[in-house]
Amino acid sequence: MCGIVGYIGDKPVVDILLEGLEQLEYRGYDSAGVALKTASSINVYKAQGKLGNLRDVLTAHLSEVSHSSVGIGHIRWATHGAPSVVNAHPHTSNCGDLVIVHNGIIENYKELRQELEDKGYVFKSQTDTESVAHLIADIYAQVKDLPKAVHMAAKKIQGAYALCIMHNEFPDMIVATKRNAPLIIGVGSGEYFIASDVPAFIKHTKKAIYLKDNQVAVVQKSSSLLVEDENGKQVTPKIEELPWEPVSLSKMGYKHFMLKEIHEQPDIIRNILTGKIKSSSSEIVLDEVNLNVDSLKKLNRIQVIACGTSLHAAMIGKYIIEDLCRIPVDVEASSEYIYRNTVTDEQTLVIGVSQSGETADTLTAIKQSKVRGSHILIITNRPDSAMAREADSLLSVNAGIEVSVAATKSYIAQLFSFYLLALYMAEIKGTVEEEKLSELKFELLMLPQKIEQILTHKDDIQKCARKYANTRDFIYIARGINYPTALEGALKLKEISYINATGYPAGELKHGPIAMLDETMPVLSILMNGSVYEKLLSNSEEAKARNARMIALTNSTDKKLDELFDDIIRVPDVAEFLSPMISIVPLQLIAYYIAEFLGKDVDQPRNLAKSVTVE
Ligand code: AGP
Repeated sequence: MCGIVGYIGDKPVVDILLEGLEQLEYRGYDSAGVALKTASSINVYKAQGKLGNLRDVLTAHLSEVSHSSVGIGHIRWATHGAPSVVNAHPHTSNCGDLVIVHNGIIENYKELRQELEDKGYVFKSQTDTESVAHLIADIYAQVKDLPKAVHMAAKKIQGAYALCIMHNEFPDMIVATKRNAPLIIGVGSGEYFIASDVPAFIKHTKKAIYLKDNQVAVVQKSSSLLVEDENGKQVTPKIEELPWEPVSLSKMGYKHFMLKEIHEQPDIIRNILTGKIKSSSSEIVLDEVNLNVDSLKKLNRIQVIACGTSLHAAMIGKYIIEDLCRIPVDVEASSEYIYRNTVTDEQTLVIGVSQSGETADTLTAIKQSKVRGSHILIITNRPDSAMAREADSLLSVNAGIEVSVAATKSYIAQLFSFYLLALYMAEIKGTVEEEKLSELKFELLMLPQKIEQILTHKDDIQKCARKYANTRDFIYIARGINYPTALEGALKLKEISYINATGYPAGELKHGPIAMLDETMPVLSILMNGSVYEKLLSNSEEAKARNARMIALTNSTDKKLDELFDDIIRVPDVAEFLSPMISIVPLQLIAYYIAEFLGKDVDQPRNLAKSVTVE
């Protein structure tokens, strides 16, 4: 997954491209590049590493580039070929006339490369993209029509792509096309923007066209825009008014976006609650669920598909829905789901969970289940995303833009959405007694202030985190509804500190992982009061007996814990059923403080990207 921007108009293009790429940095940040139309040619500028490096390159060439008003740009997350200048986009055809930027993966690039090399084309990079540059140039040499060459090339390409192409013979034209990767055209007055995502141009225009798969758009400076379907037939594109305000992303005084986003969590829950639960005695309002009472009652299975942090929210969702609604729930990583012959039909509710709403694996899984007739419910932070457009029911979590690559506030918002959804379905199905329902609603309403209490004591968590910052490995254990919390705590730590952290169901320790325990290994036990408390305590004793460095995250006031644990992080009391909403917050903070102490790039950890649009 990479980010693409393009501009054609009267304004200096360099600033527009750089600003756009900055907004797309969440999609990748290992190299960046632009191609700019200058008086006599198309010039390409690239740099390895963060966008700032490209900025420096362009500053050094200011006199060449400052008058250009047509160009395309790219920010890369390497898939084929290491992050380097030569592998950075734009890629140029051998004739030097055609340049291209690409987001996605060309699956048959090896075959294309072989075919083109046999024809005499010379490849400079290891990327899959370069084969498309040569392929379009080769076809163009024969047909002398750029949009037609793009159509013809698209028919030969397998995989996912969003492409922007410029050619020296058409100085005022950008051609764009896509398949299974996002591409949006911003329509300004006498100017057009092309981008992988809205933030890249929202400060310039709120009018946009979401290009459909296999369409080819021809954007020209003469203020014209032509969109053709896959057969080259002109279509009238739908210009949408975007429900977006330009947001200036600020850390608001926090050292990193991640810390700011952790602090936003109480207010996010308050926002989600507004209009949905008024009081512990009122019914849950969830108009977003477009399933009528009959279909809801007929559901015999729920499948939840997601990746990464969203998968952990989904795993907790299983506990919540099965407990309250008595419907069997399967949870699966999207990347596995799509290659299995799943039992999915009209009576299956398929829930896709995704912060970005663009994750390729989840999107593909959703499309597959749709074909099988399932109702698709999407839980996402991006109501304008590709997944949202596939939804029969859309639960928008409204966590606001999450900048830090490590998901925090979007996770808690997804989790909270599962509670609301399960309570809503339980009310309709009558699977939970009134009294229990009101108790749960009361507790839900109390969550924001409990999270605030944890945040007030963040200095204690910081002190504890620092004690373990130099460990090489870290183990998180839990049981029951907090087992996925252990997975999520471990994921947060490894993502941003690169420490080898693993989450286990505590009962599994003795089946293998216990062999790793000695006096160097920290074991953090998520010990929340409730049905598995005593069992987990015994598992923690077993770890202590192997000399592990023991940390408890607990809402218990049990005195026994002082002997067993080297460090205890206390959180406010909470019902076991809702405890994942509370227990995750100190784990986010531990990961943050360790990474910050180690001097890591917290918001943009190595090798990752915020939106994973490749399978
Ligand atoms: C979260 O911290 C990760 N960066 C990552 O695991 C993420 O949750 C995953 O890629 C799924 O993304 P999505 O929620 O946008 O689908």
